[in-house]
Formats: sequence, structure tokens, C-alpha cells
Amino acid sequence: MNNLPKLNAALSPAPHVFPGNGRRASSFTTRSPAARAYKRKLELSGTTSPPQSLARKKMELPPWASFVGIVLATVMLLKAVLGRRSRRAYNLPPGPKPWPIIGNLDLMGALPHRSVHELSRKYGPLMQLRFGSFPVVVGSSVDMAKFFLKTHDVVFTDRPKTAAGKYTTYNYRDITWSPYGAYWRQARKMCLTELFSAKRLESYEYIRAAEVRALLRDLHAASASGSGSGRAVMLKDYLSTVSLNVITRMVLGKKYLDKEDGSSGTTPEEFKWMLDELFLLNGVLNIGDSIPWLDWMDLQGYIKRMKKLGKMFDRFLEHVVEEHNQRRLREGRSFVAKDMVDVLLQIADDPTLEVEMDRESVKAFTQDLIAGGTESSAVTVEWAISELLKKPEIIAKATEELDRVIGRGRWVTEKDIPQLPYVDAIVKETMRLHPVAPMLVPRLSREDTTVAGYDIPAGTRVLVSVWSIGRDPELWDAPEEFMPERFLGSKLDVKGQDYELLPFGSGRRMCPGYSLGLKVIQVSLANLLHGFEWGLPDGVTKEELSMEEIFGLSTPRKFPLEAVVQPKLPAHLYAAEA
Ligand code: HEM
Repeated sequence: MNNLPKLNAALSPAPHVFPGNGRRASSFTTRSPAARAYKRKLELSGTTSPPQSLARKKMELPPWASFVGIVLATVMLLKAVLGRRSRRAYNLPPGPKPWPIIGNLDLMGALPHRSVHELSRKYGPLMQLRFGSFPVVVGSSVDMAKFFLKTHDVVFTDRPKTAAGKYTTYNYRDITWSPYGAYWRQARKMCLTELFSAKRLESYEYIRAAEVRALLRDLHAASASGSGSGRAVMLKDYLSTVSLNVITRMVLGKKYLDKEDGSSGTTPEEFKWMLDELFLLNGVLNIGDSIPWLDWMDLQGYIKRMKKLGKMFDRFLEHVVEEHNQRRLREGRSFVAKDMVDVLLQIADDPTLEVEMDRESVKAFTQDLIAGGTESSAVTVEWAISELLKKPEIIAKATEELDRVIGRGRWVTEKDIPQLPYVDAIVKETMRLHPVAPMLVPRLSREDTTVAGYDIPAGTRVLVSVWSIGRDPELWDAPEEFMPERFLGSKLDVKGQDYELLPFGSGRRMCPGYSLGLKVIQVSLANLLHGFEWGLPDGVTKEELSMEEIFGLSTPRKFPLEAVVQPKLPAHLYAAEA
């Protein structure tokens, strides 16, 4: 650093310096009047060479000085020219003016999807933001969703590198955060052909039926312990248990988290906490992800939490993989894959794999499947019941449909769902107003692209606000109203083809578990409505029921729903096994 002033001096043209003061030869210039006079004097004396003393001084300069000078001057010039040119060349979409360092982070409230929604109302359906050092583009219309997820899907298939991906999902070795490339493509292929094939999902239907039945039994027992008018239950606890049991039985082969079986070293309560924490930490705006040079300070304490959580999951997953490997060893040639971890371990052993899959990959994929399969379904059903408690007339219509199609002598099965359009409409309406991932999972552009005359440079983070699309008054009548009827007789579906309704995203990065998620949501909700009368606890009116949310990778209720349940089917149905 101490050499800087000297270097600056060496680089400055210093036209005012008269030669002979020993500063530098390049000051022997014709620009200053004194120098010009001196040059003329030399010319007049018949010589253009500087005096000996000056020539000697020139030779005393280090040989690299002029070279370094030229290089640095060129770099500075290029930087200035290119900087100006790149600013001019990119015609970025409209958006609020960013501050130095923080960009537009000051405009993000505790619920970023709502902040983004408000901003896009002002700046339009394609909006440019800056989160710290990174450009962010938000698409919040059907056209923009199509542009990002369909027309140019392949350009936007990458994910940004976040601290959550690094610390909670084995350094981006899961599916959700793994960068675009052969590893991720192989993982998606595995989902399509092995893990979520129609055949495999069907083969696990008995598990879903048994666990939904257990939910109904538990709720029945809880209601019986109350007075004659039913008892208030914390619904999310029951819903998380059913999704967790469904997914752990499908993925891990057993519940693992049985209260009686303490071998996994993790209790069900602890595991549910881990999942909540995982979703929260994977969705938060961690400052270091936007301003990398502040990362080491961990100002919000998120990284510390991520590291702790990563270790907790690893302890559990190590136990799971070890147990599965032991069975494979024990059974040798007679071994048959029973669950998704078995399938993953078999795939990892395949020598013809395009990209190597190691133990870390198996643990990362397993964690992705458990997390993806548990939280989202429970959150969606909890929102559905919350909306219905505010509109008992909708419960009445659903009950009418269930009584007519199913009757009061049996439970609803997955095969009944196509005959229950009103229940299906409730699910769609819930996903319109409460998409689990309101801005999907962030994507990253891999190349420069152009849309509507605006440029989206490579390296831009992309958010698609399905939350805004679900509330767009151009698309929906009374968008804030919960009205399942809007879907009756409509062909709109949630499977990624209709850009008005994208709770699972669309395109190459679309949720691979969507059909499993939908099945669990539909069959649990249908049976909850079929088996119970629903009400609010004493003293809570439907107007008072809070619909506040918290933000993370999923967007659950801020205050878990407490509801009063009262069985309405014959008692023996609740006791029966599936
Ligand atoms: C209600 C149920 C569910 C909802 C609403 C949901 C929603 C989503 C959304 C919005 C995405 C991001 C899509 C994008 O980036 O465009 C996603 C990705 C993903 N979901 Fe789901 N999901 C659900 C159930 C499941 C289930 C049951 C599983 C697995 C058992 C699962 C596994 C995944 C995985 C692995 C990804 C990452 C895909 C990738 O990056 O390539 N999800 N999900």
C-alpha cells in the first residue's frame, strides 16, 4: 500500500513538472508551456536529446515501471469503457433503485412474497431487483411464468448457491439445490423412472390408506376425550404425523420415528422440529447469500442454525443408511428393494451410472424426499381447513357431495377422488391462495436472454411469484375470496400445464413429487371432511381466526390452527384398520 502514492505519481502525466526535477522522463512532454519552451530551446540549439543528467535519471527508473504503467492504464481504460458499455448494453426491466451494498433488501419485509407482490404492482409483471450484490428478476404474470418455465426453461434451470444448500443439504448434493448438470439430470431421471413412477406410487397406496385411517382414529380418540360438543385439537400435529408416517414408510421402509422404537436416536417431536427448521432455513433471506463478504459474520445467526441442523439430520440419516446396508449384506442375493432408500442404494451401486452417486448423495436425496413429502402436504391441508372454518357453507357443500358419492357407511379412497369434483376444487382453491412455495424455489439464469425488449443477463436470480399470479384480478374474479366454485367445470389443473395455477412449479425443475403430494392432500382432506364436523374453539369467531403466515421454503400458518372436531360417522368405522 505504501507504494501506491509512488505508483500513482509514476502514472500521472505530470505535465507541470519541468524536466530536470528528477521526477520522470515522460514528463518531458510538449503539453506544458515550460516544456514546450524547453523543447524549442533544444531544437534551436540543434539537439532534441535531453541533457545527460536527465538521460541518466531516465535510465535509473526500474525497467518494469513503464510496462506496469501501460498495463494498468489499459486495464483502467478498458474497465471504464466496458463498464460504461455493459451498463448501456443491458436494458434491464424496471424496478426500484438499489442502494449501494444492500441493493433493495431494505424493501423486503418479514413476508418477502408480499413485499415482492406490492412492488410488482408498481413496476409491472417483469421487475428487476437487487439483493445485495446479486441481480434478481421477478416474473409475476402468466406470460412471464411461461417465459421462465416453458419457453426458456432450459436457460433458467440452475439454482443459486445458498448457504442452506451448502450446510443443510450436503453441499448441494440433494435434488432441490443441486446445480444444473449431469448429476441433477440423473437424479430427475431416477425420480421419474424409479421413485415416483405410477407403478411405485400405486404399490404404496396401502401405506397411505393405513396412515390416513390412523389419523382419523387418533382424531376420534382426541374428540372423545372432550365434552359432548367435541374437543379442540392442534390440527397440524396430526397432519404432520400422517405425512411423516406415509413418507417414512415409503422412503425408509418403516416409521423409524415410532415412540416405542428409540433406535434412530431421534424422537418424532424432535424430527418434526428439524423439518420445520429445514423449511424455514431453506427459505429465509440469509444476508450472506446476498452480500457474500458479510457471510462470515452470520449477522442473523442462520448459518449457525444450519450447521447444527445439518449435523442432526446426518446423525439420523447415517443410522438409516447403515441399517439398510446391513440388511443388504445379510440377505445377499435374495435381497429385494422394499423402500426408496433401498432403491437409491441399488442405483448408487450401478457401475453404468453416468455420474457417481456416493453415500452423501443417498443421504441428501433421502432427506429431500422426507422433507418434500412431509411439510408441504400438512401445510396445505391446514390452510384448507382454516379457509373452510371461515366459510361453513363450503363445508356444507362438500358434505353434500361426500354423502351423495361415498355415503356414511365407508371412508373415501384414492380411487374415489375423480368422483369428488367439489373436494378437488377446494384443494385447487387452497393452492391458489396458499401456494406452499409462493415464489417457487429460486432459479438462476445460465445465459443472457431477452424478454419484452428487456435483457436478463446470465447469473440473474429468478423468482416466479405464483402468489401474485394466484391473486391477479385479470385472471380471477374476486381474487381474495375463497371460492372453490370457480374451478367447477374448469379444465384448470395444478400439474404444471396451466400457468395461472402453479403450486408445484412447471418445466424441468417442477416438483417431482407432485402426484404423491396431491394424493396425500386430497385423500386426507376428503376424509377429514367426511368423518368430522368442524368448528372453532369457544370464544373464537370465524372473523377473528387469524390467517397470518410465516415465510420460509414453505409458508405455513403463523399460529397453528386449533379446531374442534366431532365425529359424524358410525363409531366402528373409526376403529377399523385400513
Ligand atoms: C403439497 C405438496 C407439494 C408441493 C406444493 C410442492 C411444491 C414444490 C415446488 C413449488 C417446487 C419448486 C419447483 C420449481 O423450482 O419450479 C418443488 C420442488 C421439489 N419438490 Fe415438491 N412439492 C410437494 C410435494 C413434494 C413431495 C411429496 C416430494 C417428494 C417426496 C417433493 C420433492 C420435491 C423436490 C425433490 C423438489 C426439487 C426439484 C428440483 O429442483 O429439480 N415435493 N416442490
